[in-house]
Amino acid sequence: MDSIIKDKNITVCVTGGIAAYKAVYLCSFLKKKGAIVRVIMSKSATEFVTPLTFKSITNNPVITTMFDNSDFIPHIGISELSDIIIVAPATANCIAKAASGIADDMISTVLLSATCPKIIVPAMNTQMYVNPVTQRNINTIKNFGFLVMEPDTGLMACGTTGVGRFPEIESIYGFIIQNCAARNHYFSGKKVLITAGGTIEDIDPVRYISNRSSGKTAFAFAETFISLGASVTIIAGNVSDIIMDSYIKKYGNENIISVRSAHDMKKSVEEKINSTDILCMCAAVADYTTECNTLKIKKNENTLNLSLIKTLDILGSLHKKTNQVFIGFAAESNNLELYASEKLNKKSLDFVIANQITGEKTAFGGDKSELIVLSNTGKRESFFYKSKNENAYLVLEYIARSLS
Ligand SMILES: Cc1cc2nc3c(=O)[nH]c(=O)nc-3n(C[C@H](O)[C@H](O)[C@H](O)COP(=O)(O)O)c2cc1C
Repeated sequence: MDSIIKDKNITVCVTGGIAAYKAVYLCSFLKKKGAIVRVIMSKSATEFVTPLTFKSITNNPVITTMFDNSDFIPHIGISELSDIIIVAPATANCIAKAASGIADDMISTVLLSATCPKIIVPAMNTQMYVNPVTQRNINTIKNFGFLVMEPDTGLMACGTTGVGRFPEIESIYGFIIQNCAARNHYFSGKKVLITAGGTIEDIDPVRYISNRSSGKTAFAFAETFISLGASVTIIAGNVSDIIMDSYIKKYGNENIISVRSAHDMKKSVEEKINSTDILCMCAAVADYTTECNTLKIKKNENTLNLSLIKTLDILGSLHKKTNQVFIGFAAESNNLELYASEKLNKKSLDFVIANQITGEKTAFGGDKSELIVLSNTGKRESFFYKSKNENAYLVLEYIARSLS
């Protein structure tokens, strides 16, 4: 299946930050996905990377000035031509100019005149980023409709650790898909319930059994459902804090219910199911639990036997209404399709999304997945190894079309 951004006109504005070289990889990535990429560089950006590099990567002339570009389209032309504009990296200076409506170079002028989605990818030293002036400017441009990405946290070029790093290219791509490409509101007015992450089965007050599910796929589906018009409630088990925080920053935490064990998750789904149109069971719910000891088990014996008790199946206890759609996930290390199709039939699902959890293309923990969707009408569709966000979009688009 073609990439969603194939043949889209994407203008990448590169400003003068240390991460300017990473914009080269971004352009190359977008180009490989089939986009028509054009680059505008600020004067400062040309101190970090040469325009020739971007010209060679994009096969398009690079704009570096407002004037003297008689062989190229002026700022209004670029604004009208672009399907998406991305400022990456976006300096504190460029964000401040966008917040004040200053138009003293090509990038700021294009940002002022363009009506297409405008994505800002801030990248700067932590002190610059957390400075109240920068934060105020970011809030201002968000209110003006700019789509601002959250920078990564980690080791900075200046040697300190903190927030302000240029995000991974895959994350930027995911942000583009969720915010710009997904324009069809297939699930408008639908109430979606998504379960996320692993569950925790307590052994004693300090120990537990869980699994390696991070919740990344569930949150990618949640964000994609939202971008396709749905209102989403997430029942979250044990999920990565980074993923949860990033979601809460965008959508708030009102529609997140945190649970611990398989039993809690089951109870929570049962409470919500009547007001749900689409149930998406993404969580890796424990198949077995233990009797929790009230006191910490002491390290006395050479061996310790834990007796595990089968958990109750969540889907098994639900009475599906005629118009409800149930989507399940099958994470398997072998016989993927066979087990997935057994699950589809046994649990009366409308769709099962199968993903491999071992080998090179494992969906566990990473940013990418390879998926197969089986439907109860006997259809089968594969989604090749790519970002979880992009696959979430493609899968939901496929499901929406199948349902209509
Ligand atoms: C070595 C060096 C690295 C810089 N890195 C950044 C950066 O990562 N982010 C940022 O906002 N500014 C950074 N600056 C400051 C900007 O280059 C400066 O504010 C400039 O005026 C930005 O111009 P522009 O927004 O038109 O590109 C850096 C400056 C230097 C000299």
